[in-house]
Formats: sequence, C-alpha cells, structure tokens
Amino acid sequence: MTSSCLTPPAPPASWSRLPGGFVLHRFDRVGSTNDEASRLARAGAPTGTVVVAREQSKGRGRLGRQWYSPPGNLYASIVIRPECPLAATSGLSLLAGVALGEALTALGPKGLDLGLKWPNDVLIGGAKTAGILLESTAGEAGRTAFVIIGAGVNIRRAPGDTPYPVTSLAAAGFGDLAPLDLLETYTARLAHWLDRWQREGFADVRDAWRARAQGIGERVRLRLDRDEIVGLFVDLTEGGALVIEQADGRRREVAAGDVIYPGP
Ligand code: BTN
Repeated sequence: MTSSCLTPPAPPASWSRLPGGFVLHRFDRVGSTNDEASRLARAGAPTGTVVVAREQSKGRGRLGRQWYSPPGNLYASIVIRPECPLAATSGLSLLAGVALGEALTALGPKGLDLGLKWPNDVLIGGAKTAGILLESTAGEAGRTAFVIIGAGVNIRRAPGDTPYPVTSLAAAGFGDLAPLDLLETYTARLAHWLDRWQREGFADVRDAWRARAQGIGERVRLRLDRDEIVGLFVDLTEGGALVIEQADGRRREVAAGDVIYPGP
C-alpha cells in the first residue's frame, strides 16, 4: 500500500465534539448510515464526513447480512477520499478495527479482553461486539472516488439469534456509554491511524492489528464465496489479506471471506 493515499482532512468542524477534520451529520432513523454517507459523498462531501443514526431500518453487515440496529447502539459511517488505487483501500477495514479496538480499550473496564478477528470484527471475551463494513467506490482509471467506513457497535443491545457468540458493551462492564462519546474516541483514534497510514504506509497498521489478532497460528475454517478451505492462519500479507497454509503445505492468500475458529 502506498504511503500517500489520503487527501488532507477537511477544515475543522463547526459543531461537534469530534476531532478537527470530522463533520458530523446526525439522524434519528435511516435505512443504513453507509447509504446516507454514500449519498453525501456522491454529492461531493469531503473526507471526514461522518453520518451517525440513533437506529437503522436496513442496517447491513458483510456478505449481504442484516445488522441488528435498535436504538442505544452506535451506527456510524465515515467518508474517506484516499488518493490511491481502489485495491489499496481494503486494508482500511483493518485500520478501522484497530482504531475501534483502541477506543474500546480506552473507555472500557481495566483488563478488557479485546480481540480482532479478520477481517472486521471486534470481539470482547471472544464474542462479537462490533463490525466494520468497508465500501469502496471506484473513480477514474482504477483510482478511488471514495470509501465509506461503516462501524456498528453493540453498546446496549446485542442480537439474540446469531450462529456465533455476541455481546454488548453493557454486558462487558462499560456502564452507560453514550454512542456519541464512543464516536468521539473512535474518530480520534481513526484520525491517528489514517495519518500514520498516509505518512508511513500500511506496515504499522498491520502490526497493530496483529498484536490484537485472534487466531494467528491456529487452524481455521474459511468460508469463501463458493468454497470452504481449512488450514493454518499463518499471517497477513503486506496489504492485509489472510495467508492460509493448507494441509499439503500450499499457501493461499485470501482477500475476502469468513473465518470460523477453530478449524477442524
Ligand atoms: C459486519 O460485521 O458484518 C459489519 C457490520 C457493519 C454494520 C455497520 S452499522 C453502521 C453502518 N451502516 C450499515 O448499514 N452497516 C454499517
């Protein structure tokens, strides 16, 4: 990934407690904050535009799944306009996970057992607490028009019908955390990591992600679009793809899929 992917941030926000460069658009109820952010981006909204809603009627997760979106949780989508090829933006999902993980560590109880699961889950005690949905839109000649970084955090409520363990910040001992307080800390950490990515490239983001990663060195099952593979989760590539070593020793690099721990 190149080290000069970002345009300078927008001028400081006229309102909000968000760090300079972020401008907040608050909604009571939307279909999806990612859709609202895309709409604003298509109308010319700059890097740092943030859409937050109290609830979503059509919250989306990865791979076309629904995202449970009642009031009380955080639903936030941020417009970024990186000046780099579209392919170089995929690591922003890991970058956002690192930023969100740091925000939760800063705001949560001491000794919080926080982990990151490739590519976009934030776990507490091994249970999913937050997810990131990165949606990139192509510009001309393979460049990037804009990227939407959507984040959903189960602050007060977690869904009850998932095939994997889930939890909420309330259940994890965070007390009564307001969504906007979490957004403030998250955007501050995001600004830090976006700046670092811009100046130094992806290597530091990758190291920070690895330091909190769940499952490196373990056997995993990986659900792909039409396929499923099992193997050892060896590492991340320089761009943030997963490296899996299969039983016959072959290594595969996977850019998108669903990791299931532990593998058979
Ligand atoms: C996942 O884990 O599958 C990703 C979930 C991302 C959910 C967030 S909530 C805010 C933004 N708006 C959406 O519709 N989705 C993302």
